[in-house]
Amino acid sequence: MPDPKRFAGRAAIVTGAARGIGAATAARLAEEGAQVLLADLAPEVMAQAEAIGGVGLRIDLAARGAGEAVVDTALDAFGRLDILVNNAGIGGSKPLLDSDDDLIDRFIDTNLKAVLRLTRAAIPHLARPKGHAPGRIVSVSSTFGIAGYPGTTAYAVAKAGIAQMTRQLAGELAPEGILVNAVAPGVIETAMTMGHLGNDYYRRAVLEPTPLRRAGTPEEVAAVIAFLASDDAAYVAGQVIAVDGGWLAARHPPREAG
Ligand SMILES: NC(=O)c1ccc[n+]([C@@H]2O[C@H](COP(=O)([O-])OP(=O)(O)OC[C@H]3O[C@@H](n4cnc5c(N)ncnc54)[C@H](O)[C@@H]3O)[C@@H](O)[C@H]2O)c1
Repeated sequence: MPDPKRFAGRAAIVTGAARGIGAATAARLAEEGAQVLLADLAPEVMAQAEAIGGVGLRIDLAARGAGEAVVDTALDAFGRLDILVNNAGIGGSKPLLDSDDDLIDRFIDTNLKAVLRLTRAAIPHLARPKGHAPGRIVSVSSTFGIAGYPGTTAYAVAKAGIAQMTRQLAGELAPEGILVNAVAPGVIETAMTMGHLGNDYYRRAVLEPTPLRRAGTPEEVAAVIAFLASDDAAYVAGQVIAVDGGWLAARHPPREAG
C-alpha cells in the first residue's frame, strides 16, 4: 500500500512519464511524497505533470544534450536529485533482416544511448556521502533483454544493454552511495502493446505461456520500481527484477493443441 511519507523530501526524474509505466511510476512516487520531474517527448506530459503536482518537461531524450537538460531542469526546480527512473522507450521491433539503418538507429538511440547519457548526467548529483540514504537509479529493461524472443533483435539488444549497464554501474557506484537496479517487465497493458492484446495469435503466443495468464498493469510495474527506489531496498544492487507474471521463470505450454 502507498505510504504518503515514503519519499518525503526526495526529488525524482521519471522519463517517458506522459503515459503507461512512466506515468504510473511518476504518480506513485508523487503519491508517496516525492517531487517529480516528468520528462517526455509527448505533449501530454504537461497535463500529466499538472495532474500529480509534478513538473513537466517536453524533450526528445534521444537528442544530444538532452540528458544534461533534464538534470538541470530537475535541479532548478527541486534543488536536489535523489532518484532517476530511466523508463522512456519505443517498441515495434522487427526481425533484423527487415530492420533498416534508420530503425536500428532509432532503437539504439532512444532505448540505449539516451539512457546512458541521462544516467551519466545524473550520477554526480545522485552521489551521497556515507551515512546518507543512497541515491537511486532504476531503469526499465524487458524480459526480451534477458531471454531471446524471435523478431525483436534491435529492441532486445538495447534492453539487454540496460540490464548490463545496471550490473556494471551497481559495482562502480555503490561505493559512491548510489544503488543501481532495473525491472524487466513482461507484457504490460500500455499503448506499446495495445495493438496486440486483442490479437488471438499474440494471446496464444505471449499471454498463454505466462503463468499468471494475463498481462500486467503499469501500476504493478510502478510498485516494484518504487520499492527499488525506497529504503526497503537498501541492500539491493545490480538486480534486474522481472515483473512478468512468471514468464521468464516458468513458461507454460498452450492449454490445448492448436
Ligand atoms: N508495455 C510492455 O509490455 C513493456 C514490456 C517490457 C518493457 N517495456 C518498457 O517499458 C517502458 C515504458 O513503456 P510503456 O509500455 O509504458 O510504453 P508507452 O509507449 O506507453 O510509453 C513510453 C513513453 O516514452 C516516451 N518516449 C519514447 N521515446 C522518447 C524520446 N525519444 N524522448 C522522450 N520520451 C520518449 C513516449 O512518448 C511515451 O510517453 C519502455 O522502455 C518499454 O520498452 C514495456
